[in-house]
Amino acid sequence: MDYSIETLALDKLETDCIIVGLYENQQLSSSAKIIDSLNQGLINSFIARGDIKGKHSETLLINHLPESSVSRILIVGLGDKEKLSPKLYRKALSSAIANIKTANLNSIACTLADIEVENTTTLWKTRQIVEVFNDALYQYQQTKSIKGSENKLKQIQITASNETESDSKQGLKQGLAIAKGVELTKFLADLPGNICTPSYLAEQAKIVAAQCTKMTVEILEESDIEALGMGSFLSVSRGSRQPAKLIVLNYTGGKKDSKPIVLVGKGLTFDAGGISLKPGAGMDEMKYDMCGGASVLGTLQAAAEMDLAINIIGIVPSSENMPDGDANKPGDVLTSMSGLTIEVLNTDAEGRLILCDALTYAKKFNPEVVIDLATLTGACLVALGRVPSGLLGNDDALCNDLIAASETASDSLWRLPLWEEYHDLLKSNFADLANIGGRDAGTITAACFLSRFTEDYRWAHLDIAGTAWRTGGSNKGATGRPVPLLSQYLIDRDNG
Ligand code: BES
Ligand code: MN
Ligand code: ZN
Repeated sequence: MDYSIETLALDKLETDCIIVGLYENQQLSSSAKIIDSLNQGLINSFIARGDIKGKHSETLLINHLPESSVSRILIVGLGDKEKLSPKLYRKALSSAIANIKTANLNSIACTLADIEVENTTTLWKTRQIVEVFNDALYQYQQTKSIKGSENKLKQIQITASNETESDSKQGLKQGLAIAKGVELTKFLADLPGNICTPSYLAEQAKIVAAQCTKMTVEILEESDIEALGMGSFLSVSRGSRQPAKLIVLNYTGGKKDSKPIVLVGKGLTFDAGGISLKPGAGMDEMKYDMCGGASVLGTLQAAAEMDLAINIIGIVPSSENMPDGDANKPGDVLTSMSGLTIEVLNTDAEGRLILCDALTYAKKFNPEVVIDLATLTGACLVALGRVPSGLLGNDDALCNDLIAASETASDSLWRLPLWEEYHDLLKSNFADLANIGGRDAGTITAACFLSRFTEDYRWAHLDIAGTAWRTGGSNKGATGRPVPLLSQYLIDRDNG
């Protein structure tokens, strides 16, 4: 897809369809006014006829303009002008692109960066257009021999004025970087577990690193992982025929001595539960248990594309969790890299077992902060549903920075407590701690477990079990979250 910023006057624009906004009180957006007068009051005549009222997310496609270099107009309802929030703005963009998708066009021009949205900038609006459109146009085709009809759309122009041009271009750059990071994450996550194995993820990390001169990658093999003493990580992989990989990406955009931001992503390419086998229904969706890892790849790619002047390390412990004669058994005791011993009371609580060693490994980078992201607990879905990701951490400033970034990025987070009282639930009679805490507060006890390995640095944990993919039905697929939020967090750090 070719996205560009277009500062031509609207009467010079050539496109298959121009997208303009209309408020509920039948007030046209500034671009809509110009398009209306260029077409002899056509938009107003459709309004007068009652074909469109400007209700939020309402759309009307006028598909015949006899005397214009613009072949069609898509009017998008924006609702009440005073109430147009960032969320509603994105929703209006979604309904616009949903309409375009079915219209079979080669090119479109979007004027909606001219709409006033509370607390936002031209940069933000331009970026949202790219992010929302690219997300909607994503089509998984990789393993289909009968391909769905491919969208013809090749060119997307985003209109700007001379005054807004440079902000628009900055928004386009960020939007493209984030959209591509999201796309990579969705693609890797949607791939089936028999293709997207730990080795495949490692190869993909090499490709991401090769695209940028400031990025290197190191793949640690099982022998290296063993030499590091990662007994917890390796125990999960032992029941699988696929070798585990520890993927380490190193992006050096910042000064040599500036401490890196470390991102750690759970890269479980298939979670059958192990000996504590999961029930059959919906088990296919456990191919998505590597979404944290894929998001680390997508976020580093986005950061590199934006050429951020900060240092970032990405760590992805990757393995499968399978039932096998050599797999972990309930009651087994493991020794983690930190030296802490762990009693495995449920082999399906494997994410924390691979993450704890990766979190111990993170110390060697002398991190500014460490953020881990993982499809860690079904309990997070029970607590928060599929709207925000869960946030827990040992540092209020870091958590607040992440919440601020999540609001800007429209990729929401909700913080849960990590209080001392919960730690008692992880007591074990036979090891330093147990890997599960029972039925209560599953998301919190999982984070409590991780926190035992993150005491030496500022740390936050994102539980993305409810947000990394959409479940069931024809809508099933990865979302690419939390790449937008993490990219925003990194942009904010780059800005000081
Ligand atoms: N990958 C799952 C978590 C998960 C479950 C994510 C459903 C998305 C949807 C994780 O490895 C797991 O199995 N967790 C267990 C923990 C339990 C045994 C304490 C869970 O949530 O059931
Ligand atoms: Mn599991
Ligand atoms: Zn899992």
